[in-house]
Amino acid sequence: MIKYVNSLDNINEENLQGFFVGWPNPPSTKKHMDLLRNSDYLWLAIEDSTGEVIGFITAISDNVLSAYIPFLEVLPNCQHRGIGSRLVKLMLNTLKDLYMIDLLCDEELMPFYKLLGMFKSEGMMIRNFHKQSGK
Ligand SMILES: CC(C)(COP(=O)(O)OP(=O)(O)OC[C@H]1O[C@@H](n2cnc3c(N)ncnc32)[C@H](O)[C@@H]1OP(=O)(O)O)[C@@H](O)C(=O)NCCC(=O)NCCS
Repeated sequence: MIKYVNSLDNINEENLQGFFVGWPNPPSTKKHMDLLRNSDYLWLAIEDSTGEVIGFITAISDNVLSAYIPFLEVLPNCQHRGIGSRLVKLMLNTLKDLYMIDLLCDEELMPFYKLLGMFKSEGMMIRNFHKQSGK
């Protein structure tokens, strides 16, 4: 059974394996824990029988008007089972009292987010690739 939680209680680095698929220089599991700890909001999908985290979503926010969703990922062998959609729905509900909720995504994922009530926009960004594994 999959459970969805918004805390890091009983979660440690061992529960966080296999994420950042395709990243040339991914953050360590320690950095992944730091990222989760330092986010304003998070939701985790956990395989109850093993305690393994199989998906996560985070948001950072000023808690007045705006929030940004930097990360959503579901482990490859757990995808296409509705887990990603569920994580987005939980996060959008968590952020429902804020005016602006933004994220950046590839064109191919726009239909996924559109189905969840989001709209296409324009964006700008910088990526310091030499910092991809963390500060
Ligand atoms: C995007 C992601 C979180 C979706 O998780 P998921 O648990 O598979 O999502 P759901 O099962 O709720 O929905 C799956 C649907 O999303 C869409 N989708 C997911 N990934 C897609 C992709 N790369 N391209 C196009 N559509 C995609 C499809 O419509 C898919 O439908 P299908 O299962 O019938 O094929 C997952 O594919 C993932 O972790 N990808 C790698 C990281 C990433 O791209 N994160 C988003 C950053 S903005």
